[in-house]
Amino acid sequence: MKLNQVIITGGAGYIGSHTVVELIHAGYEPVIIDNFSNSHPRVLDGLERILNRRPQLFEVDCCDETALNGVFESCLQQGNIAGVIHFAAFKAVGESTAEPLQYFRNNIGSTAALLAVMHRHGVGSFVFSSSCTVYGQPEQIPVDEHAPFLPAESPYGYTKQACERLISDAHFAHSELNVTLLRYFNPIGAHPTGLIGELPLGHPNNLIPFLTQATAGLRDPLTVFGNDYPTADGTCVRDYIHVVDLAKAHVAALNWLQDQHHACEALNLGTGNGSTVLQVIQAFETANNIQVPHAIGPRRPGDVTAIYADAKKAKKLIGWECELSLEEALKDAWNWQKKLGETS
Ligand code: UD1
Repeated sequence: MKLNQVIITGGAGYIGSHTVVELIHAGYEPVIIDNFSNSHPRVLDGLERILNRRPQLFEVDCCDETALNGVFESCLQQGNIAGVIHFAAFKAVGESTAEPLQYFRNNIGSTAALLAVMHRHGVGSFVFSSSCTVYGQPEQIPVDEHAPFLPAESPYGYTKQACERLISDAHFAHSELNVTLLRYFNPIGAHPTGLIGELPLGHPNNLIPFLTQATAGLRDPLTVFGNDYPTADGTCVRDYIHVVDLAKAHVAALNWLQDQHHACEALNLGTGNGSTVLQVIQAFETANNIQVPHAIGPRRPGDVTAIYADAKKAKKLIGWECELSLEEALKDAWNWQKKLGETS
């Protein structure tokens, strides 16, 4: 039987690994490309336990066009390539300010290399991992896909904007290229089995990994970055989406792309609900019946006051919407943290 393969760069990462699971459930054959620069090979063990088999992996740097070409050639000997999902990228805002060259080279270079290899082999479906960071501090919330890109706050944010532009330009030039640009809001949670989840290397920058580690006693109390914003309780508002819902959106996008003839669409992936930092802490405490040690601290430079998604376009176009609640995501995040504690 010929395999219906999907090349998934960064497939050992947080969102990538959850997407591998959903692709297999949907009948696709994921082929992971990952160089473990910000992930760990043990993710493959978790995937194997969930799926009862080990997904195929190529340990390759996505900026290496020759090596990428080799992966495509090897896949084409086994079956067809239904599409490419491109997660592999650096994503730490602060680090990008210190290491802008690395961010430009890695995030933009890998996207250009992938598009070139796809074009060479006539592979037409491309799902790109973008971010709501492209909107900056939006003038209107909920924010829809027509909102303009505002000047990026960081080199990381700029690479997402630049990649979207690069992909759109390639789409205009290459008639076979169909694209979805998926703009994620704030992915949180873990697989309900507790076998895969977010594995931040070192000090976590994002709210939920820091919160769970602080609650587990592995870190100092969580600092709430500012309570003097013009929001309901003074803390910032975000749209927190369960990573399993987000993973399913990639399958829906890929399915949709199979029937397109020269499409390029940006889609917001969020719940449509905003929660403040204090509301998230409260929801975590209620969902898990545990106290979160925390204190109010100063604002974090570069934080947007409030952003949440208008996700109606994704529902209309690809038939996807969130099914899981904030509480479920926070339960799964805590379950994952506890399991990590047992194994480390
Ligand atoms: C950040 C990035 C975004 C990126 C995403 C994924 C910025 C401005 N945005 O999103 O571009 O795509 O990460 O890496 O950096 N918070 C605390 N205490 C903490 C950590 C966070 O109060 O210790 C607050 C933040 O102020 C924010 C919320 O929690 O209001 C969420 O923060 P975070 O998880 O870092 O995500 P974003 O900043 O929304």
